[in-house]
Amino acid sequence: MNVGIDKIGIYIPKYRMDMRQLAIHRSVDPDKWTIGIGQEQMAVPDLSNDVVAMAANAAASILTQEDKSVIDQIIVGTESGVDFSKSIATYVHQLLEIQPFCKSFEVKQACYGATAGLQMACDYVRLHPKRKVLVIATDIAKYGLNTTGEPTQGAGAVAMLISKDPKIMSLEMVSYMHTNSQHDFWRPNYSHYAMVDGHFSTQLYVDEFIQILDHANKKNSELLESIEAMVFHLPFTKMGMKAIKGYEEYTHSDALTNKWRGHYDAASILNKQVGNIYTGSLFLSLLSLLIHDETLIPGTRIGLFSYGSGAVSELLIGNLQTDYREAINVTTIQLHLDRRVNLEVLEYETLFLSELELVEGNSKEVTALESGYYFKGIYNHKRLYGYYHEKA
Ligand code: HMG
Repeated sequence: MNVGIDKIGIYIPKYRMDMRQLAIHRSVDPDKWTIGIGQEQMAVPDLSNDVVAMAANAAASILTQEDKSVIDQIIVGTESGVDFSKSIATYVHQLLEIQPFCKSFEVKQACYGATAGLQMACDYVRLHPKRKVLVIATDIAKYGLNTTGEPTQGAGAVAMLISKDPKIMSLEMVSYMHTNSQHDFWRPNYSHYAMVDGHFSTQLYVDEFIQILDHANKKNSELLESIEAMVFHLPFTKMGMKAIKGYEEYTHSDALTNKWRGHYDAASILNKQVGNIYTGSLFLSLLSLLIHDETLIPGTRIGLFSYGSGAVSELLIGNLQTDYREAINVTTIQLHLDRRVNLEVLEYETLFLSELELVEGNSKEVTALESGYYFKGIYNHKRLYGYYHEKA
C-alpha cells in the first residue's frame, strides 16, 4: 500500500537576524558563518510564537475541514516542550478543532522525534487506510548569546498530513536505524539552553551517517545506488556536506556522493534562511529540495537521513509521487518567508532574553504580532492561546 506525506506546510516566525550583521557585531569573520557554517539568516521567535502556536499555524496552513474530520492522531515531535505532562498536540487538537475521537501526544528524542512520529503515522495508516495522521515538528533552538552555537539557532514548525495514496511522497516500510547513547548535545531539565560538545557532535553525526549507510548497504546492496538525492537533518547547512564527505572517504568512492552533492544546494536553500529548527530541519530540507530542484521527476527515490543527538539516527526511503509539484503550495510558502522582517542586533538580543514573568501563576497578556494562532500568556498556571486577525 502507498502511504506517506500527502501535504506539507511550515510556520517560520516573523523576525529574522541576518548572519553577516550578527557576525560583524560578534567580531567574527562573516564568511565563517555564511560559508564555513552555511547560514544566511536565523529565524527569531517572540513570546507570542511559542512552539504550540507555531505548530498550530503550520498545521492550519494545510488542513481542510474534511482532513480534520478524518485525523485519528496528532503526533508532535519536539525538544522544546512547554509542559512535562500536557502535550503540545492536545493544544493543537483544540485550536484546530480536530474531530474529538483522536489521540494526541508528543515524542521526544532530540531532532529525531518527528521521524519516529512519521513512522508511527505511516504504520497506523497502513492499518487504517481511510484515516489520516497529523505529524508536526516544532522547536526553538537556543544556545545562548555569544556562544559558538549561536549561529546555528533558529525556530519554526513543519506540519505533514499522512495518508494513503499521498500526493507528495510515499515512504517505504523498510528503514535503517541506529542508537548510540552519547552526550553530544542535550538539555537537562534545569537548563534554559542546550549543552553541546560542538565538534564531537559534528563528528558523531558523520559517524552515524556512515554507520547507517554501511548497515543499509549490507542489508540491500542495490539500495544506495537507487537513491537519487539524499536529504539530511541540517542543524546548519554545512553539516550534510560533512556527512557526504565522510562517507566518500570511508568508501574511497565518489560515484554516489557526487550524485547526492548535485542535489544538495536545492535541499539547503530554506534551511540557510531559517537556521536549525531541530525536529523540523530534515523536513524543511526535504521541502526545500522539492521546491527548488527542477531536475527531480516523479518516481525518484529519495533518502532521508534523520539524526537526533543523544543519539538516534534513521535512514528512510521516500518515492516522489506523480503530482508532487502541484501538491506543494510554493506561492504561499514563498509569501510566508518573504513577509519576514529583519532585526537589528540589539532587537534580536532583547527578544532572545525576553521571558514571561509569572506572579502567583499569572502573566501579563502577550501581544500578537500578526494574523494567526498566538500564545496569549499564562492564567492560573494554564497556557492560553488565541487567534488574531490583523486589520488590513
Ligand atoms: P566553531 O568552533 O565556532 O566553528 O563551531 P569552527 O571553528 O569549527 O568553524 C566552522 C567552519 O567554518 C570550519 O569549517 C572552518 O574551517 C570554517 P569545517 O572545517 O567544519 O569544514 N571557517 C571559515 N570558513 C570561511 N571563512 C572563514 C572561516 N573561518 C572558519 N573566515 C559548531 C561550529 C558547529 C561546532 C558550533 O556552531 C556548534 O556547536 N553548533 C551546535 C551544535 C551542532 O549544530 N552540531 C551539529 C551536529 S549535532 C546535530 O545535528 C543535532 C542537533 O540538531 C540537536 C538535536 O539533535 O536536537 C544540534
